[in-house]
Amino acid sequence: MREEAMSTESTKSTEHPNTVLSRQHFDLMADQYDELFITHMHAYDLTHEMILNMLPFSPQATFRVLELGLGTGNLTQKLLDRFPHSTVVGYDLSGEMLARARAKLADAGARLQLHQGDISQVTFDGSFDAVISAIAVHHVPPPDKPGLFQRLYDVLRPSGVLVLGDAFQAATPALSERYRDLSKAWLEREGIVETPVYTAYRSRNSQPSGGSSTHLQAYLQWMEEAGFHNVDCVWKYLSRAVVYGERPQSQ
Ligand SMILES: C[S@@+](CC[C@H](N)C(=O)[O-])C[C@H]1O[C@@H](n2cnc3c(N)ncnc32)[C@H](O)[C@@H]1O
Repeated sequence: MREEAMSTESTKSTEHPNTVLSRQHFDLMADQYDELFITHMHAYDLTHEMILNMLPFSPQATFRVLELGLGTGNLTQKLLDRFPHSTVVGYDLSGEMLARARAKLADAGARLQLHQGDISQVTFDGSFDAVISAIAVHHVPPPDKPGLFQRLYDVLRPSGVLVLGDAFQAATPALSERYRDLSKAWLEREGIVETPVYTAYRSRNSQPSGGSSTHLQAYLQWMEEAGFHNVDCVWKYLSRAVVYGERPQSQ
């Protein structure tokens, strides 16, 4: 497994431009991330809730999770709290986001291993009972996305589950516009639009983030091609959705 002291310089020289942009974007916004995302991103907590609800484990179960793009560790914290015998291996590209996660999750001790790494390139070591991720996989460069699903299948134990919440491209340009309007209306209803923090969010958000959303159907297809069973979109709200699949017991 690549540790944080991984060969960042050699990795960076061959990075996809999206990856460079993503790291810069999140390194810059790490200080404000929690304030901005928790308050200003529609259905942020709900996305986490929908991911955790799909984990097929009892509260007392002992299991091992791989989390992709954990950011400042908000989903990680909820997982560790809800399942007190779980352990998590988490990856993120941004050293600044990881620093916030490390501070926030200091009490997790040996239940948590954090690594700085590009999930589109890293070789994930070991095997896991679940792979989870929230709003991060759309940052994986488009040519690397299909292969990621195969690599995730390979690190899951038989009966292991993949639960990804992400931002998706709308099915049509007309729906994309409608989703934007509905998100804006939500922000207005919540009284967020005129606040200084919202203005800062919009200005940061208009800079390239390295994200490149895909149609939801593409994720489902790549999961099936990788060998996942029981593949479905288990929740969707505007452009946000959670997809789910299982590695079969016998393969
Ligand atoms: C919108 S944040 C989501 C963070 C967290 N999952 C949450 O729910 O708040 C996206 C995260 O994905 C990370 N990320 C983007 N591209 C990545 C990549 N190629 N490899 C690993 N992490 C990546 C970013 O650094 C950022 O922390």
